[in-house]
Amino acid sequence: MSFKIVEQAPARLNRSELAVPGSRTELFEKAAKSKVDMIFLDLEDAVAPSDKEQARKNIIEAINDVDWGTKTLSLRINGLDTHYMYRDVVDVLEQTGERLDLIMIPKAGTAADIYAVDMLVTQIEAAKGRKKRIGFEMIIESALGMANVDEIAGASPRNESLHFGVADYAASTKARTTSIGGPNKNYGVLTDALDGEARDYYWGDMWHYAISRMVVAARAHGLRPIDGPFGDFSDADGYRAQAQRAAVLGCEGKWAIHPSQIGLANEVYSPAEEDVANAKRILAAMDQAMKEGKGAVALDGRLIDIASIKQAENMVKTAEQIAAMA
Ligand code: COA
Ligand code: MG
Repeated sequence: MSFKIVEQAPARLNRSELAVPGSRTELFEKAAKSKVDMIFLDLEDAVAPSDKEQARKNIIEAINDVDWGTKTLSLRINGLDTHYMYRDVVDVLEQTGERLDLIMIPKAGTAADIYAVDMLVTQIEAAKGRKKRIGFEMIIESALGMANVDEIAGASPRNESLHFGVADYAASTKARTTSIGGPNKNYGVLTDALDGEARDYYWGDMWHYAISRMVVAARAHGLRPIDGPFGDFSDADGYRAQAQRAAVLGCEGKWAIHPSQIGLANEVYSPAEEDVANAKRILAAMDQAMKEGKGAVALDGRLIDIASIKQAENMVKTAEQIAAMA
């Protein structure tokens, strides 16, 4: 183990995170009543420039008046390159109570971007006597953001999660995409023709590097890595496959841009019952070994290492959080 202890972000369920445009007030109550873990009220790209000010007012009212239950509530502010962003932070934090949990910073490019928002939020919290510390979620969705992903992840003690914003990332890197968050048939390998046999073509995942890179930066700083949107909300199988491959790489959840994607994300990012049962057996075996003064622990004829104990603890904790949501 390194001497450096990585402090973990507050443990929040983040299996699903629903995008709700601030201009569509009729969606607020529906989002609040859904089964989603987190909601981000959006002032950025789902809101047209002519609607920005009204959307900000709508969101202030909604944070104060809607019953959001136990959901984690976030606000996606406009980019730091716009003239909307400072008012997004100032007006919303000054005119709402303590209900808002997080601010989502889009197109994070450098650590200084996070520092700037941190400075603003810190002043408002102090001036207004806000008691609950606002946390930050950063969207990694540009070549610059990916190049600086480590510094961004470590830029503020408020940081809780990194999100892969696939559509803007594709635009920024000039990647060739066909759908938001889907695969591209041109990213694949053609097998060699061995002994004149037919050749096979396998699709690859063009987002593999980007998601893996973000996962490493997030985990190295104790943050949650979250996969972003999948645009075709009528393709449940496509969503499930993309969610699953991001989960395999270490992501903890995925965005939903439509309510139909909430259940899919919750399903993919909830630990399976048998895995939870197995995790409990691992922890029980470890307890027993401790009582008997044994160092190494075995279960089902296999050695249990420290890493599997840590994973078992995390899984049981997540299962408890999910049970508390129900
Ligand atoms: N939050 C809560 N409820 C939502 C919702 C959302 N984001 N999107 C749709 N709904 C509701 C609709 O109001 C409708 O409710 P009803 O059954 O009571 O009428 C139901 O879910 C089905 O919606 P549907 O008619 O299929 O979708 P739509 O045409 O109203 O909206 C989108 C489709 C994509 C425009 C909409 O889902 C949306 O704005 N999503 C967020 C997109 C976004 O923010 N993108 C930025 C991040 S990438
Ligand atoms: Mg974006």
